[in-house]
Amino acid sequence: MAARTGRAATAAKRMAARTRTTGRTAARARTTPARARRSPGPRLDSLRSLFIEEIRDLYDAEHQILKALPKMVSAASHSDVKSALENHRRETEEHVRRLEQVFEDCGVPARARRCEGMAGVIQEGTETVQAAVDPDVRDAAIIESAQKVEHYEMAGYGTVRTFAQRLNMPECASVLQRTLDEEKQADRKLTDIAESAVNVHAAEAEGGDEESEEME
Ligand SMILES: [Fe+2]
Repeated sequence: MAARTGRAATAAKRMAARTRTTGRTAARARTTPARARRSPGPRLDSLRSLFIEEIRDLYDAEHQILKALPKMVSAASHSDVKSALENHRRETEEHVRRLEQVFEDCGVPARARRCEGMAGVIQEGTETVQAAVDPDVRDAAIIESAQKVEHYEMAGYGTVRTFAQRLNMPECASVLQRTLDEEKQADRKLTDIAESAVNVHAAEAEGGDEESEEME
């Protein structure tokens, strides 16, 4: 248990170092015009072109998640949190493959477009996890961050599934629906773990919040 907690603390330190580096990058990026960070895409003159752009956005988001999940697994302490995230990492590989199938069905090359929204969600989550010094509070922060990622994806997949239905692409719609169902399932699983164990332990962590300390 102590060794596991020690490994989690080491992983959290590594995440902290990465956050400091990416934090500097983000500070520079804030002074850069948005257009320089995300190149303008093609003119969107049809629902089909909007659909393909959104698939490209999700393709990048899924790749960002594939990179972030192993770091979250390393930083987690609770075995249920680790296994839920590891299971979702395997599902995410399949989500990437399904998007490639959609590209193929649309007759366009599989190409990503930088998803700044997902980059922001992951960055914020990394900073919050890094700030959590108690292992149970850190697990609660990891679940919070992972659920924000899931909800971002659920919004994206729900939209492209509905576009595919309108564009009379039933096979694409059903492939995207399968991924949407898995995102929802992963989100529910994390809620269960948070409510049944992680939040219960995190509530017992010593410290108290800053506001109550200030009031004393
Ligand atoms: Fe996904």
